[in-house]
Formats: sequence, structure tokens, C-alpha cells
Amino acid sequence: MESFDLIVIGSGPGGYVCAIRAAQLGLKTALVEKDAALGGTCLNVGCIPSKALLESSELFHVMRHKAEPHGISPSSVKLDLPRMLARKEGIVKDLTDGIAVLMKKNKVTVVRGRGVLKGGGKVAVLSESGEQEIEAKAICLAMGSVAVELPFLPFDGDKVVSSTEALCFDKVPQHLVVIGAGAIGLEMGSVWNRLGAKVTVVELLPRVAPFADSQMSTFLERSLKAQGMIFRLGAKVTGAKPEGEGLSVTIQNAKGEEESFTCDKILVAVGRKPCTDTAGLQEAGVILEGGRVQVDDHFRTNLPGVFAIGDLIRGPMLAHKAQDEGVALAELLASKPGHVNYDAIPNVVYTHPELACVGLTEEECKAKGLPVKVGKFYFKGNGRAKSLGEDEGLVKVVAHAETDRLLGVHILGARASDMIAEAVVAMEMHASAEDLARTCHAHPTLSEILKEAALNVDKRAIHG
Ligand code: NAI
Repeated sequence: MESFDLIVIGSGPGGYVCAIRAAQLGLKTALVEKDAALGGTCLNVGCIPSKALLESSELFHVMRHKAEPHGISPSSVKLDLPRMLARKEGIVKDLTDGIAVLMKKNKVTVVRGRGVLKGGGKVAVLSESGEQEIEAKAICLAMGSVAVELPFLPFDGDKVVSSTEALCFDKVPQHLVVIGAGAIGLEMGSVWNRLGAKVTVVELLPRVAPFADSQMSTFLERSLKAQGMIFRLGAKVTGAKPEGEGLSVTIQNAKGEEESFTCDKILVAVGRKPCTDTAGLQEAGVILEGGRVQVDDHFRTNLPGVFAIGDLIRGPMLAHKAQDEGVALAELLASKPGHVNYDAIPNVVYTHPELACVGLTEEECKAKGLPVKVGKFYFKGNGRAKSLGEDEGLVKVVAHAETDRLLGVHILGARASDMIAEAVVAMEMHASAEDLARTCHAHPTLSEILKEAALNVDKRAIHG
């Protein structure tokens, strides 16, 4: 039986990053993966393919609807969906092949098959070619998560689908009903709306992206509505049945009235649940807490030598959070001070405009009794935003009213996903709003909007 210092089960962003960092630190590492391609949900059927389609569909939308004001008249813009999907697949293949190269480069042993905990540091790896056992001083569980199913609306892979199938519809649906206005619902709804589908989003809570600052949610909803998306907020789906070639969906809307509409596809995007049933956790006696693997501050489960990271454990289900946990765990295993700052994890929804935030919302600060002062600045007051033709949106900086320390930054607008990085660094360094306001920002850039919002915490924006 081959022995390792560390066995990582699952090759998503948490697992493969943990394996690389452990190998860099001199640990003999094995990475166990049941699927053909490495990279997990994020690379294969999540973050990467969805961003590829978001980019392609946005380009299609821009050419059709936004080129004219630039003095460009595209004579005929046509959609070639198979080619768009092939581009996406190409990007996924490049990146997943790249992970395999990284494993080789770092001398991580990739073991193909389903990893099952066997106790005493052993993992059985089950594959078509049989079963093998490997062992290690430490085992990292990084099996990720899967889409949650609605009990009365099970996935059928065709008409009632998860995000996986919504990434590869072979034609543009006439009417796509999306259940859930979280990250997946809004992103995939945007893709198919831009490509010509009628898209109706049904959300249980009264606003889109309910985790976000309420003003940002309101702005985003308004913008997506202007793009043609239809929202039924504060509504719940009560049933769906086959009708003709498609489905008839019944909802109870916010007024308590029943509404029915026909559609050809339903995307259920009501959250994800950790994969706690694929690796023998129950048999091995791993304790769960609220459906997730219980861990302490050093990612230790209740079983000696067994650790867990990423979507399996508490916290937001985000690829970058899992990656940081993977690095921290590898460093702890190598007796280094690995650590994750959970107060400075950005969250991005890649709609257009993009929504990006870090830290606390104004509402969360108030609920915690934190005195705050807030500075806002709108994209329309920024020269670069004007020249880009992207003057929709705002930045909101939330600072402690007494200490001026940054508590949260919220951005809605073009390229918010890149702009948020500056705020994350500032929060990581425990900066104040004054620190941001006094930092020289290149002109003309969108980053100046963040500076102006920071200045506006003390009501002294220059261009506002
Ligand atoms: P989510 O938790 O972000 O949103 C689910 C939404 O569905 C919520 O707004 C919830 O109120 C609503 N909902 C729940 N039950 C419902 C029902 N019966 N009827 C109507 N609405 C209902 O989950 P989502 O979008 O499925 O994403 C799953 C995970 O993947 C999340 O943790 C998300 O952060 C992550 N993710 C992150 C992305 C990003 O960072 N850009 C992109 C895609 C996913």
C-alpha cells in the first residue's frame, strides 16, 4: 500500500490548490478524483464555463444593442450557439488539462476513482479497474457540493435542470423559468435572456441577490428588468406539470395569488448542498453540523488526521474561499501559521452590471449595533465610466463611525469583480476609509469611483 503525507479527496479549487501547496512544502501528496477531468464543479460545470457564456452572450448583446452610440452599425449579428458552446468547452478543457500539468509539475500523485474513508489513515479508491488502498498521516476532505433539488420538482436533465445542464442547452429556450434569484439564477438567467429567451425568475425572498446590500439589490433588479428579465419576487413555485412540449408552472405570487405560465425549461437554482454522502463519512463517523462537516479553526474534523475544507464546511460556498482554506490547511500541516480571514472574502455575481462586495452591509452593521458612516459615489460621475458607455451603478463604502475602519465595500457596475480587489486588500490590511481616500488612483479609471466613495464617507467627494 502506498503511503503519503497527505491524501486530498476531490480536485476542485479547494482540493487541487491544497495539494499543490502541500507539495510545495515538501509533503508527499496524493489527489483522489472520481471524474475524468480535474478541477471539480468550478472548472468543469461552474465558475469557468458560466463566465465563458456570460462573456459571449454579453458580446452578442453589446453588438446588437450597444454598438450604435459608438458610431458602429453592425449590419447583421447572428448567433451561432454550437460555436459559442464549443468555445466554452475549449476553455474548460484548456484549464482542466492545465490542472493535470500542475499536478505533474508539483509531483502530486493523481489517483483516479472514488475515495472512501476507511479509518486509520486509509482511503479506499474505487474505480472501474477495481479497488486500491492508500494511506496517509493526514486526509483532506474536499468533495465540494451539488445542486439542491426541490422535492416536488426533481431534476430530469432535460426540462427541469440544474446549472450543469443550463450551461449546454442545444437551443435557446423560448421561455426559461429560473427558480432562485441567487448567483446562479441571475447569471444563467442573464446568459439566456441575452441570447433571446424570455426569462422569468421566481424568488422566495422579496429581492434579488438577497445576500447583498439592499440598495445594490434594488439597482440590480432594475437593471436586469430593463434588459428584459421578468421577476416574481416574494413568490414560491407550488407545482409544475407537463404541458404540450413543455411545462406549466404554478406559483403563489407576493400578493398570495396563484399564477400559471408555460415554459420549455426550468432551471432550479435554490442553493447547493455539501457532498457528504460520497466518501463514506457516515460509516467512518464524521460528525456533521447543519448538514456540513463540523471542523474547528484548523479544519480538523472529529476524526484524528481527517480535515475538511471548502463547500463541505461552514461559510460561503465560493471557489476562492475553498482555495484559501486549501492553502491554509497545507501550511498548518507543514507546521506553518496557515490562516483565512473570513471577514475579507469577496462575493461577486457576474451579471451586467456586476455585483461585488466584501465585508458587512449597512444593514448587517446596524443589526450588530455598529455605528456606521456611509459614502457613495455613482458611476455616472466618472469619466472612464462615461467613455466606456458603462455609467450605470455605484460604489458604497461602509466605515465605522468612530474609528473610520472599513467594514464593507459594495460595488454595482461594470468590472466590479476587478474593482473589489482593492477593497479586499484594504480590508485585509485593516485600512480606514481615509486610507482609501488618500491613496492616489490613476485617472481616468473606474477605481476613482471607489476613492470618491471613500471621500464621501466624510462628504467630500470632488466630483459628486
Ligand atoms: P444561492 O444560495 O446563491 O441562491 C438561491 C436563491 O434561491 C436564494 O435567493 C433563495 O432565497 C432562493 N430560493 C430558495 N428556495 C426557493 C424556492 N423554493 N423558490 C424560489 N426561490 C427559492 O444559490 P445558487 O444561486 O443556487 O448558488 C449556489 C452556491 O454557488 C451559492 O453558495 C453561490 O454563492 C455559489 N455560486 C457562486 C457564484 C459566484 O460567485 N459568482 C456563481 C454561482 C454559484
